Amino acid sequence: MTHRRILITAGSTRRDSTHALLARHVAGRLDELGRSHLLVDLTEHDMPLYHGDLEAEVGVPESAHRLAELIAESGALLIATPEYNGAVTPLLKNTVDWVTRVDIGVLRDTYIGLMAASPGRLGGTRGLAMVRTWFDAMRLVVHDSDLSLPQVGEHIDDVDGSPRFDATTTETIDRFLSGFLTQFDEYCCGRPAG
Ligand SMILES: Cc1cc2nc3c(=O)[nH]c(=O)nc-3n(C[C@H](O)[C@H](O)[C@H](O)COP(=O)(O)O)c2cc1C
Repeated sequence: MTHRRILITAGSTRRDSTHALLARHVAGRLDELGRSHLLVDLTEHDMPLYHGDLEAEVGVPESAHRLAELIAESGALLIATPEYNGAVTPLLKNTVDWVTRVDIGVLRDTYIGLMAASPGRLGGTRGLAMVRTWFDAMRLVVHDSDLSLPQVGEHIDDVDGSPRFDATTTETIDRFLSGFLTQFDEYCCGRPAG
């Protein structure tokens, strides 16, 4: 497995989503680091709620095929996802379930990193733990440390009408990314990028 590209996506497609902001921020940092990446907005991969009869009658949606292809052409996947009631979002669960109906193996070699931001003190850690348990059951490769940003509303500033993470949070994200990239490079290619 030699794909260096890193896919980034968010488990929320809400217009003002904090996780979409986090995904965009991470894409920006990867850009600055000269790392191959692709930001994937799940609104462009709209899928109906999974139903076996629907699959039998009309098949797997084209959007799931396209997403599976993007994943297969990448070596890593960074997911920024909220927790809903201490669990995974229906959007993320549904998306992954459809992708596995294209090819259960498509995510198997992908190096996955998990990120969450939350208005609460727990920083979305319960949702992250649930995603990890879920992905472990699928025998996926998940980076050993997650990024969790608690009370994130207090760390977003308005800069010329656009929300931006403050300096402390940016450093926290950078530390996570640095560890993730080191481990990913080792996993994918046994050496640093470049
Ligand atoms: C149905 C629902 C359940 C939620 N449950 C939790 C929760 O368990 N823990 C938490 O920290 N936030 C919870 N939240 C708040 C989300 O963290 C918050 O709305 C967050 O901004 C969602 O992410 P987004 O901005 O990327 O859409 C919940 C929100 C919704 C809509």
